Amino acid sequence: MILSRRRFLQTSTALMLLPRAAHAVSSDLIALDSEQQIAPEGYPTTPVWTYGGSVPGIEIRVPQGGRVRRNLVNNLSQPTAVHWHGIRIDNAMDGVPGLTQDAVEPGQSFVYDFVAPDAGTYWYHSHNRSVEQVARGLYGPLIVEEASPPDVDQDLTLMLDDWRLDPETAHIVDDFDNGHDLSHAGRLGNLVSVNGGFDPSYSVGSGERLRLRLINASNARIFDLALDGLAGWIVALDGMPLAVPLPVEDSFPLAPAQRADLIVDVTSSSGEVAGLASIERDGGYGVVRFPVFETAHTRRRGIAPLPSNNMPEFQYEEAPLHRMSLQGGAMRWLEGAKLGDQDLTGRELAQLGRFWALNGYAERPKDPFLDAQLGQIHRIEFVNETAFPHAMHLHGHHFRLILPDGSLGPWRDTVLVDRGETRQIALVADNPGDWLLHCHMLGHAASGMMSWFRVS
Ligand code: C2O
Ligand code: CU
Repeated sequence: MILSRRRFLQTSTALMLLPRAAHAVSSDLIALDSEQQIAPEGYPTTPVWTYGGSVPGIEIRVPQGGRVRRNLVNNLSQPTAVHWHGIRIDNAMDGVPGLTQDAVEPGQSFVYDFVAPDAGTYWYHSHNRSVEQVARGLYGPLIVEEASPPDVDQDLTLMLDDWRLDPETAHIVDDFDNGHDLSHAGRLGNLVSVNGGFDPSYSVGSGERLRLRLINASNARIFDLALDGLAGWIVALDGMPLAVPLPVEDSFPLAPAQRADLIVDVTSSSGEVAGLASIERDGGYGVVRFPVFETAHTRRRGIAPLPSNNMPEFQYEEAPLHRMSLQGGAMRWLEGAKLGDQDLTGRELAQLGRFWALNGYAERPKDPFLDAQLGQIHRIEFVNETAFPHAMHLHGHHFRLILPDGSLGPWRDTVLVDRGETRQIALVADNPGDWLLHCHMLGHAASGMMSWFRVS
């Protein structure tokens, strides 16, 4: 239907008479309670906290260089804030209460408005009391599209989570501050979901080429993922394209907050079911099923890297090296650490729910771990003295891993540092502001593994 000019004018007048709030609806991001079928059919629904009514929250998609503008409306019972994980963002929009903004009180709102400079797979999540709020469902995908995307038949976002549900009621077990979890591997669950459901299925055609955007939104679970009936490559990690796509041979790790973009070809024939599996010590289980239907596709050959995000080239050999010791936790209990200006014993810290420390601080210290001048190159060496792995995340910057042979590895925003392991990274401090640096096992962050750096 084509509107006459007159009709159009009437329509637009009508729109202008609507209250302003109605106008803003499409750009509101409403944090609210909801219910969702997380557990398998036959179980009750689970009360969840959501962005927009479902878990994951609405998928936000913008072109590279595009602007994201969302008015966060807090209809929850707790203060909250949104962090745009992995975006090299303007500091004021980073969503960290106590560092970049005040938490948004229930009934209040806050406008996030920023440019997304890099194409890739990102996500957004609560950064207030995240050990509880992310576990209750406050996360969603943020996809920044390439100007010329790769040639695929389907582009699927798969957001993995790990829930701890009561087996009778399917309610989230609300023991978020449980000292055992905090001091061990973090809050591990009893049900793995993809896109907010148990073992979902997506139909794919035989011979089709898929882009899978995997995002690990769980509090603490490190997935080890394997393909079944699919063959392909990892083409990006934490949003950033790999210069050379990496063929997926066995399984590959995905730590909390990490992302992996895969381009895979369906090798199963029609009538079969391909899938993605999570490998555990005592076997594996499927997390997503891809029933295969018949198509006339012939498989494509070869793969090209994704277009690069124009990250800076640099040399790190002369860059100052800052050592960060990861300390504490079960089996390596803290003898003591600083909390504010106070030196406390390990026992005193444990009574306050503090089990971990970064360089002797059991909370975000007053002074930054690193005070960098804009544009400087720095190295950080994470020394894991604990008996557990940690997923170390820097805000506002991607960094490069320094590989054991001294060469520069992929760009990442979250690096998994295994127990006993030492890993070096190098970054260009090119984004001014105060930025968090923490473990993304959210229980570890809540109980001591939190620091920050300043770029000015
Ligand atoms: Cu997704 Cu402070 O992190
Ligand atoms: Cu940790």
